[in-house]
Amino acid sequence: QKENSKFKIGFSQTGFEDDWRKAMNQSMEIQAGFYPEIKLIILDGEDDIDNQIGDIKKLIDSRVDALIVSPVKSKPITPIVEKAFKMGIPVLVVDRKIDGQNYTAYLGGDNYRVGANAANYLASISQSKKRIIEIKGLSGSSPALERSLGFNNVIKNTENLEVVKTLESNWESYSIKDSLRLLLDEIKEIDYIFTHNDRMALGAWEVAKEKGLHNSIKFIGVDGLPGPNGGINLVQQEILLATILYPTGGDEAIKIALKILNGEKVPKNNILNTTLIDSRNADIMKNQFEKIAQHQMDIENQQKKIKKQEETYSTQLNNLKLLLAL
Ligand code: FRU
Repeated sequence: QKENSKFKIGFSQTGFEDDWRKAMNQSMEIQAGFYPEIKLIILDGEDDIDNQIGDIKKLIDSRVDALIVSPVKSKPITPIVEKAFKMGIPVLVVDRKIDGQNYTAYLGGDNYRVGANAANYLASISQSKKRIIEIKGLSGSSPALERSLGFNNVIKNTENLEVVKTLESNWESYSIKDSLRLLLDEIKEIDYIFTHNDRMALGAWEVAKEKGLHNSIKFIGVDGLPGPNGGINLVQQEILLATILYPTGGDEAIKIALKILNGEKVPKNNILNTTLIDSRNADIMKNQFEKIAQHQMDIENQQKKIKKQEETYSTQLNNLKLLLAL
């Protein structure tokens, strides 16, 4: 059935390794499963810009009807995305942005607000002077830029708070562990570490633990995924003080792509809500996510049943046809 689908949607995903990307792919696949007219192809960029450029070329060559892209970095991906767009392929950019305006629509969380929320939270719990290390995401990717801007703009106007050092990363915790080890030997009296995602927050906590500093430093991350060692779970384990929810928007992406393909007008900017998760609401958030996951499983099972019924029906129909032809 999916082979002669009306719409072929190609998604160039940054990479398949981490749980946030896995969750995004999964919600896209579930959503696409609701529409028999959609065939979704997801390619794994392996977090490498050259791979990703190759993936987009492949999707263009295979004549996708729409392209969804979550760029590893903004600048180097822009030319190939612009090329697709100028060829008339509708382009939905998700999560990380490209440079310029040559795309159909963008969908993603408000990264400036993510950073600002983290800083406002720290401001609200700090009665005396506090010193902060900021660990940024991959430089050249828009969430890293915007999270840092939102965070630092609030910190600048908050008397009690000071960012004493900023570290760079590639979004993965192995990329910051050595530099953080050195840094924690070098500078003392750190109160907070704000990392641009929860995976690195856990890594930072592990480094602090090696040095016996994990109780004196408080950690804040971003993403707030459900599941083992997701941000919500890390808050529940009291490894993180808080995390800022950064929704993947996988289901929304499919909905928007379908609207575009059906010729409906969609806003250029589609911004997803974010919220802070700490010990006060972690249990509620976990329950909500579990309910959603349960619903999704119910729906998937339902879809399987329907498919089976359709198959039985079509065999019966064929048998009947054969009988009538006799
Ligand atoms: C997943 C991820 C998230 C982060 C996002 C930013 O690959 O690293 O942890 O919030 O990308 O684009």
